[in-house]
Amino acid sequence: MFTGLRVSLHFRTTWAGWFPVIVVQKELMSTTEVPLVCGTDYEGMDISWRHEGTPLPMGGNRITVTVEATMGGSYTCHDNVGTVLKHQLLLVQLNNTNHNKILKRTGEADDIKCLSKNYSGIFHCSWQWSPDRVGAVVHVSAERSSGKDNITCSVDEGGSGITCMDQFQCSYAEELDYINLSVYVRYMYHLEEYSSKFSITDIVKPDRIDITKVDGNTFQLEYPKTWSVPDSYFPLTFHVKVMPLKKGWDCKHDSERVLESFTRNRTFSVDNKREFRLCVRAQDKLCNSSWSDWNHYEVKRMK
Ligand SMILES: *[C@@H]1O[C@H](CO)[C@@H](O)[C@H](O)[C@H]1NC(C)=O
Ligand SMILES: *[C@@H]1O[C@H](CO)[C@@H](O)[C@H](O)[C@H]1NC(C)=O
Ligand SMILES: *[C@@H]1O[C@H](CO)[C@@H](O)[C@H](O)[C@H]1NC(C)=O
Ligand SMILES: *[C@@H]1O[C@H](CO)[C@@H](O)[C@H](O)[C@H]1NC(C)=O
Ligand SMILES: *[C@@H]1O[C@H](CO)[C@@H](O)[C@H](O)[C@H]1NC(C)=O
Ligand SMILES: *[C@@H]1O[C@H](CO)[C@@H](O)[C@H](O)[C@H]1NC(C)=O
Repeated sequence: MFTGLRVSLHFRTTWAGWFPVIVVQKELMSTTEVPLVCGTDYEGMDISWRHEGTPLPMGGNRITVTVEATMGGSYTCHDNVGTVLKHQLLLVQLNNTNHNKILKRTGEADDIKCLSKNYSGIFHCSWQWSPDRVGAVVHVSAERSSGKDNITCSVDEGGSGITCMDQFQCSYAEELDYINLSVYVRYMYHLEEYSSKFSITDIVKPDRIDITKVDGNTFQLEYPKTWSVPDSYFPLTFHVKVMPLKKGWDCKHDSERVLESFTRNRTFSVDNKREFRLCVRAQDKLCNSSWSDWNHYEVKRMK
């Protein structure tokens, strides 16, 4: 059954330059015929083909190859003295995403996790490769549902994430649309697409709050340097915990001996205590997005 060629991408191999990529979408058990063309200049010429270096019986400028299961591959066409005229990669994408295996499935929500430290339009997405299949990013598509965007993404060194920026993002305007992100990854000749849909408001997570001791038991809580300005327009709520210095108690610990409060006051005083741990995290006051990671400050009695 012929399923057609859906997207044509360019893929950078690690061993050479840019090769055109042909993507075939099919079902696992189906067999698909795919037409390959060497080039419009080679019509009627004596052209030979190779698959993974092995000569194929058919010849000529246009051939049809049969793709079974996920058997894509690297195809080259040659002139009558054997010179390579074109190199193309045929990747297979199964149209049932339940087959997806290249990225580690987290089980919860999306396999791709995106975060932003502020409302500037810069965001970072990351994922984990399955233990036995470290793949490569072939293509990223990111656009807003409204069509009003200019999003560019670059793949992080190591290939386990991307950093994107929407030049049209306006920090001060209410975000009415969402970003539709698709990451195409490849392992061998198998292509998979992973998607995520979110608004910056959904994925914003402030950096850690800096805690400085002013005097006595009074502390200054500083907005992260990466948080959007002005502070009056992007207020944060602090979640503060004061707890005894006990082995095994970290900032996540909760019990009746932990004093908890929520405040916007950047000055925080701890009364009547000589030894304690002060824990602080922050969240955008105006929306229910992620809390920052905890930061803490320990006050120990002089021995
Ligand atoms: C996969 O593609 C085949 C061939 O085009 C089609 O018949 C089938 O319905 C598709 N399956 C899914 C889950 O999209
Ligand atoms: C989108 O951003 C790129 C990179 O900054 C820039 O070169 C391009 O002109 C922008 N396009 C539009 C339509 O603003
Ligand atoms: C999101 O993008 C993907 C890939 O470009 C596309 O298949 C899908 O239809 C889009 N979804 C929405 C809701 O726009
Ligand atoms: C906003 O956050 C991004 C990372 O998400 C960071 O690169 C950028 O510097 C931050 N902007 C400001 C003004 O700090
Ligand atoms: C903030 O906290 C400090 C010290 O705990 C206190 O003196 C001050 O009155 C508070 N400010 C406001 C606006 O609540
Ligand atoms: C805020 O988000 C948390 C976790 O996602 C959820 O449990 C809580 O109900 C939300 N609160 C409000 C007021 O929407």
